[in-house]
Amino acid sequence: MKVTVVGAGAVGASCAEYVAIKDFADEVVLIDIKEGFAEGKAMDLMQCASLNGFDTQITGITNDYSKTAGSDVAVITSGIPRKPGMTREELIGINAGIVKTVAENLIKFSPEVIIVVVSNPMDTMAYLAHKATGLPKNRIIGMGGALDSARFKFRLAEAIGCPASDVDGMVIGGHSDVGMVPLIGKAARNSVKVSEFLSEEKMQQVVEDTKVGGATLTKLLGTSAWYAPGAAVSEMVKAIALDSKKMFPCSALLDGEYGLSDISIGVPCIIGKNGIEQIVEVELTEAESAKIKESAAGVKATNALLG
Ligand code: LAC
Repeated sequence: MKVTVVGAGAVGASCAEYVAIKDFADEVVLIDIKEGFAEGKAMDLMQCASLNGFDTQITGITNDYSKTAGSDVAVITSGIPRKPGMTREELIGINAGIVKTVAENLIKFSPEVIIVVVSNPMDTMAYLAHKATGLPKNRIIGMGGALDSARFKFRLAEAIGCPASDVDGMVIGGHSDVGMVPLIGKAARNSVKVSEFLSEEKMQQVVEDTKVGGATLTKLLGTSAWYAPGAAVSEMVKAIALDSKKMFPCSALLDGEYGLSDISIGVPCIIGKNGIEQIVEVELTEAESAKIKESAAGVKATNALLG
């Protein structure tokens, strides 16, 4: 398994690190436009191999896509991250051009590649990657739901006062502060609904904290987060590598599912060697359905800016 990670910034490097540490890929190519940057990050990471016990070969490349040839999976993290006070949507002007060029370069050298889009505004960038490449819809996956769900579980565990491994929950909808739909009514602690442990008010707080999960970190860090985004991508890439058929909420191009079409937005997906192998249509309450529709309208408004 050869994995390319485009963008050697914090998210890209964290993704390369987690992929390497989990030791399921033979090779990770880290590519960046900044001269020597990916080479430096790759060398630093390779010096962890004997310490962290992995055999994955990490190579750093400056802008030469021929070195990404034959990639099974490529992760696009390139573009600018948001600064405190910015929304993900405000990044569209710069990131759209970058993501389009990167996606085209990737398939030129790896026609069979499965692309995982991380760059923001992520749902719109995933949609753009579909439009720019015309790849079958199973082969472009937006990463947002896996991260947002991890943040949801963190907040649930914090509110309940239990380990995160005790809780299960999922966030669907757009990867934006207003568009995320944490499915609080379906969240559980070892099969017991979280409403058994949390008041209505606490549950609402968990939902609100989850939605601004990225913004909270951006405010604290002065830039976008990287550990959890990198870890979330690595789990998705691992599910492809191991053909594990794991279910993640991912931004998938919809064709009627959830009553939506011509949009890439977060819905539960089964991930295996072919990328998105199935979109799972879970039964939503009326309120959840209304929130998804509202979220989709927001994503479509951002897509319209692609012009
Ligand atoms: C975040 C970025 C990756 O939510 O969108 O941290």
